[in-house]
Amino acid sequence: MITVIQSPTDSDFVQNPYPFYAAARASSPLQFWTEYNMPAAFSYDAVQALLKDRRFGREIPAEMATTGPAHLAPFLMTEAHSLLDAEPPRHTRLRRLVLRAFTSRAITALSDDIEALCHQLIDTFPDTPFDLLDTYCTQLPVIIICRLLGVPEDMAPKLLKWSHDIVAMYQASRTLETEHRAAAASAEFIDFLHSYIDQRRNDPRDDLITRLITAEEEGESLSTDELIATCILLLNAGHEATVHSIGNGVKCLLEHGLNPEWLKPEGIDRTVEEILRYDPPLHMFTRYAYEEIEVFGHTFQRGDQVALLLGAANRDPQGFPDAETFDPTREIKTNTAFGGGLHFCVGAPLARLEMKLALPILFERCPNLALTEPPQYSNTYHFHGLTRLMVTA
Ligand code: HEM
Repeated sequence: MITVIQSPTDSDFVQNPYPFYAAARASSPLQFWTEYNMPAAFSYDAVQALLKDRRFGREIPAEMATTGPAHLAPFLMTEAHSLLDAEPPRHTRLRRLVLRAFTSRAITALSDDIEALCHQLIDTFPDTPFDLLDTYCTQLPVIIICRLLGVPEDMAPKLLKWSHDIVAMYQASRTLETEHRAAAASAEFIDFLHSYIDQRRNDPRDDLITRLITAEEEGESLSTDELIATCILLLNAGHEATVHSIGNGVKCLLEHGLNPEWLKPEGIDRTVEEILRYDPPLHMFTRYAYEEIEVFGHTFQRGDQVALLLGAANRDPQGFPDAETFDPTREIKTNTAFGGGLHFCVGAPLARLEMKLALPILFERCPNLALTEPPQYSNTYHFHGLTRLMVTA
């Protein structure tokens, strides 16, 4: 297998990983990525095939599982009980419970709320240059996920801090300090949810936390640890990536000379998909092989890992004609921004709805929106989002 060398913390790569992806993809679908010490899939076909191949999965094979270092215990507890890191039958049981709250009807019903919140946030924009990422892109998803779960909105700043400290564990820049911060954030998050869930047992409402509490109480095989891990996963996943999809989207639209047609009701679905294809907020996930498997000319042994480069698959010319061009009028075709197969993003309908409403409302209310400095991406691979997005409205 061909070997590629690319530091995921190199600043040129972080600002623009696409040339590296194009070069890697050109020689073969699987390459050995030295820094990650595992084969990596760069082509559309390979990423799609591996996402759907049930002989690969996210849960660590039982014989490889360790208890992990003591200083990480609270963080590891949330991971161990998370549906994201489970495979069937545990995954099926947890995902089914969550999906009850993420029906298309329940998500569509949030439209008015999302629209109203967009307007409220825009009403607070200052006259001087300001960070749109902080003021708009971050606030919308975090407040909406709080409402959906039934967590008080004034917890949003705390949730953001905990979530940032926890997701830093999945970024290439991870250090020992990151680990301590993630463990502390997990411990505080768990404590908060323990007492909040206790409080809510006596005060049921029409929200996801209540539904999960009921499932736990009715013995629907949801343990308290799973209930807490699910809430943490939803609260974190519910905003981290959406924030940067909106941020990357605004950047993309402004840099490509926004055409008002792109944001009209008949064009917005394509625009949202094109933003997610062209500059997705999450670029890489990994899988374990569960048996000896030969794919794309390579033999995996049980326990071997493979990296799936979602950001690279989306720019594969074999998947999308003229793939390096941002074209919001292109026909919609499944891209890999939300993954695929068993772990396909539960929140995709919500994230799409938020983007579909937030972008047109923003540009309609602020027709002169302009960048005041070139936006920079954060050094947080495999996350791909901006550090800030300075604009004038
Ligand atoms: C544009 C925004 C978003 C993007 C790009 C995104 C992307 C992804 C991806 C790629 C995966 C699969 C990871 C893998 O296969 O290894 C995933 C899983 C997941 N996402 Fe999202 N996500 C977004 C928004 C959301 C939102 C808003 C929520 C919740 C409200 C959410 C909840 C989840 C959950 C619970 C999973 C785990 C699903 C499972 O393991 O079965 N995501 N997401």
